[in-house]
Amino acid sequence: METIGTNTETTFDKSKKSETYGKHSKESSSETHSTETFHVQPPLPSKVRRDESRSMMACQYGGKKTIKVAHVGIPMVTDPTDAVIRVTATTICGSDLHLYHGEIPQTNVGDILGHESVGVVDDVGPNVKHFKKGDRVIITACIACGACEYCRRGEWSCCDTTNASKLQEFLHGHQSAALFGYSHTLGGYDGTQAEYVRVPFADVNLFKIPDKLSDGQALTACDIASTGFHGCELAEVKEGDKVVVFGCGPVGLMTIMWAKYRKAARIIAIDVDGNRLEFAHQRFGVETLNAQEEDPVKKMPSLIPAGPDKVIDCVGFRFPDGLLHKIERALYLETDSPNIVNSAIEMVRKNGLIALIGDYVGYANHFNI
Ligand SMILES: NC(=O)c1ccc[n+]([C@@H]2O[C@H](COP(=O)([O-])OP(=O)(O)OC[C@H]3O[C@@H](n4cnc5c(N)ncnc54)[C@H](O)[C@@H]3O)[C@@H](O)[C@H]2O)c1
Ligand SMILES: [Zn+2]
Ligand SMILES: [Zn+2]
Repeated sequence: METIGTNTETTFDKSKKSETYGKHSKESSSETHSTETFHVQPPLPSKVRRDESRSMMACQYGGKKTIKVAHVGIPMVTDPTDAVIRVTATTICGSDLHLYHGEIPQTNVGDILGHESVGVVDDVGPNVKHFKKGDRVIITACIACGACEYCRRGEWSCCDTTNASKLQEFLHGHQSAALFGYSHTLGGYDGTQAEYVRVPFADVNLFKIPDKLSDGQALTACDIASTGFHGCELAEVKEGDKVVVFGCGPVGLMTIMWAKYRKAARIIAIDVDGNRLEFAHQRFGVETLNAQEEDPVKKMPSLIPAGPDKVIDCVGFRFPDGLLHKIERALYLETDSPNIVNSAIEMVRKNGLIALIGDYVGYANHFNI
């Protein structure tokens, strides 16, 4: 623990980070650490300590299709760069449904779930510089250290420090950053669907909420609004583009919102759920296509003859729509159904772009998607 304190003390070069990526831009110019110390990567955060004399409610994984609310000890500042947040609003991500359906390896009974929450700082470690008790904050979904090579490039979700999972290294060749409340394959950290949560590297993983924003508004920035934005970034959506968005869950809707913001000329939203399509149409005025009623690939030439410029998959691995893929998944011949990807490849125009922002976790027909 001591070592972590010493290292991180000299590690967070806000000026460099904000210069390059605009994160926490207000704190920029006053502190500049030497570049020698800037490169020191902190060790893996310690296992959380709890105050067992005080209890809180938390949502725990209880096995496939079982979530329970349990009473557990309140987390404490464990490493000097930690903060403990009192959660004031939290929500459920489409990715939590993968846990619920028992699809994510190393999700243990009793694990606290959740990675989208906002709250108020309740306690901070001695090395936290930018937050104090009482600050209203957004907690980012993934846990970054702010100092490793990936973090310094702004590739926070690839942080080299926070996830030591051997299984993920075995499955994917490398570890990604840890994610709050998302199995031991993604670090084994307690999730944020709890009354309190411990946030490692608080200066990196918290953001102050401007007074004018409500908790509900700020909550979308933890994951879904940023994910939708990233979907548009990956697809390089620009003015005049014709864009197809597969999936009208929260991620699909946010992707549509950002595509509109980026002045896409046409947006066609596809889902199998009529209510979600109706909502997408009413809220954003987009065209809709129900994949249960019409095959999107066959229908597309009548809508956009040359094919869409961009196709963004906001559905992911868990929805096989053909019998073969249903059987393959049931028999564990593949973990991920690639039917949306296949449709995207067939429908996109020549030289178009496909972005996958929906989650894929393993193999589709022996392809490590
Ligand atoms: N990459 C990231 O950082 C990130 C972040 C958050 C969520 N996700 C992933 O994004 C995906 C969407 O998340 P969400 O919260 O919107 O989930 P969601 O489950 O609410 O939405 C998925 C939607 O896909 C629709 N769908 C199913 N089969 C379809 C088909 N054949 N054609 C068209 N639509 C179909 C469903 O009806 C549903 O509306 C999930 O895979 C989630 O894990 C990724
Ligand atoms: Zn999420
Ligand atoms: Zn890092």
